Amino acid sequence: MVHLWVEGVWELIMGAILSFLLIKLTGVDREVIEKWLYVIVGFTFLSGILGTGHHYYWIGTPRYWLLIGGVFSALEPLAFLAMAIYAIAMARRGGRTHPNRISLQWTIGCAVMSFVGAGFLGFAHTIPQVNKYTHGTLVTAMHGHMAFWGAYAMLVLAIISYTLPFLTGRKRHDATSASFAFWTSNVGMIAMTLAFAVAGVTQVVLERRVGMDFVTVQTEIEMHFWGLLLAAGLFILGIGAFVWNFIRHGWPVAELGASGEGLDARPAAGATGAATGAATAS
Ligand code: HEM
Ligand code: HEM
Repeated sequence: MVHLWVEGVWELIMGAILSFLLIKLTGVDREVIEKWLYVIVGFTFLSGILGTGHHYYWIGTPRYWLLIGGVFSALEPLAFLAMAIYAIAMARRGGRTHPNRISLQWTIGCAVMSFVGAGFLGFAHTIPQVNKYTHGTLVTAMHGHMAFWGAYAMLVLAIISYTLPFLTGRKRHDATSASFAFWTSNVGMIAMTLAFAVAGVTQVVLERRVGMDFVTVQTEIEMHFWGLLLAAGLFILGIGAFVWNFIRHGWPVAELGASGEGLDARPAAGATGAATGAATAS
């Protein structure tokens, strides 16, 4: 049932937050952005609710779930693809002139990575004929990680990056550590996904095709877990940089008066009050 949440409800929330960020960061008209939002969210529900049926394959439900789950879940990636194309198109249309580039980076990154993780890698194992072999293996973990990272984590980091300058009055979103955090965590997560993928496919072949037992297979694929740990190290380094940037530059007004950074912030229309307020408070 949790999948009705990730494949239905969350995508609605994700679409809404992405649209908010796109309106603020690209300057494209709200009507244009919202028109596409309705189309995408409509398609999400159409495919997502019955698409959840791909979790009913092997739990003793009637056989027709193989067909319903297979067909509708195979349509779900289209909603994610639409979301990614929509975000990129709006950013292009807006000309990427907003000073908070790092927030736009997280926003576009969220749309793209959720398509790859949830849409593409979800599709990779959603057809019953494939899922029969991959069910409950590291192939699932491969998809789960990138889907969660793209659709949940990156969205949260995008909205934090967007709001931080308003809350602190500082233009620190331009810091090198912010960019380092984006690229390092993403490269780390891509490498982690690859490690899970290689381990997962090997596990499927050895366990489900060759017939070796679970524990023996786990020792056979141990090497890929070392790869996973290396990739995870990179990922953690990126997240560490984000947290460092957040604490260092997200701290409220204490250092504002001395450095005068608050005055450099260029908040979008409507938020001037917050930034000025912060600067005054110092
Ligand atoms: C934001 C969207 C999504 C997130 C966060 C997500 C995350 C996850 C996670 C964490 C699991 C593992 C669940 C468990 O072990 O109980 C899972 C399973 C699965 N997901 Fe997704 N998912 C998303 C969307 C999708 C989409 C769009 C598809 C299909 C196109 C899909 C296909 C699957 C399948 C087939 C499984 C079951 C794998 C198995 O049989 O072991 N997911 N997903
Ligand atoms: C810091 C590096 C991380 C490492 C080394 C790591 C490793 C793992 C491992 C080994 C599993 C068990 C896989 C299995 O045996 O099926 C797992 C499960 C899981 N992890 Fe991570 N993980 C990391 C970060 C994350 C992050 C950042 C997220 C979400 C954004 C996440 C979400 C999940 C989920 C949803 C599951 C359950 C997947 C399933 O049911 O198949 N992990 N993780």
